[in-house]
Amino acid sequence: MPTNIAIFASGSGSNAENICSFFQNSHDINVVLICSNNKNAFVLKRAKNLGVDAVFFTKAQLISFGFLEKTLTNFNVDFIVLAGFLLKIPQKMINKYPNKIINIHPALLPKYGGKGMYGENIHRAVIENKDEESGVTIHYVNQNYDEGEIIFNAKCEVTKTDTPESLAIKIQALEYTCFPKIIELVIKK
Ligand code: GAR
Repeated sequence: MPTNIAIFASGSGSNAENICSFFQNSHDINVVLICSNNKNAFVLKRAKNLGVDAVFFTKAQLISFGFLEKTLTNFNVDFIVLAGFLLKIPQKMINKYPNKIINIHPALLPKYGGKGMYGENIHRAVIENKDEESGVTIHYVNQNYDEGEIIFNAKCEVTKTDTPESLAIKIQALEYTCFPKIIELVIKK
């Protein structure tokens, strides 16, 4: 039986699109659904263009989990990927999908994790602190932001001339290369 993935995203969804493309011709892993808490998120337009089903839900629906649980069950979802999803995952959802929810974070956790740490906020803080390296972390999701068991890290150099924008581009390139491969490895483990 193939593994069915749902991707949760709150914004642009470039990782979501990259993951969909990576598994497009796979026989064992299918992206069956894209879920967003933001009805204006560009990821929903990407889903339409890619021909992938998409669903919008409110924060209250995430917390109560009833509507989402039904939707995920209807789509036979086995595995959940958070790709730029900015809300906390409720305990009920973690219980329903134990060790089957993973997240990508654009920094070397445990540094630069937690509430408010996303996107450019992170890259600005890394540069202000004069860190010499940054990177991405892929981890299992638990009830705390950015604290689940780490599965994988990839690093890049932060040079003296880097800006938050240039660092974002380096990190994005790392994300596109490693995230689909790590998803595949975790599912096939
Ligand atoms: C990605 O860089 C991802 O690592 C980050 O949001 C971006 C989403 O970009 N996630 C977090 O900051 C989670 N705390 P995308 O919408 O273009 O894929």
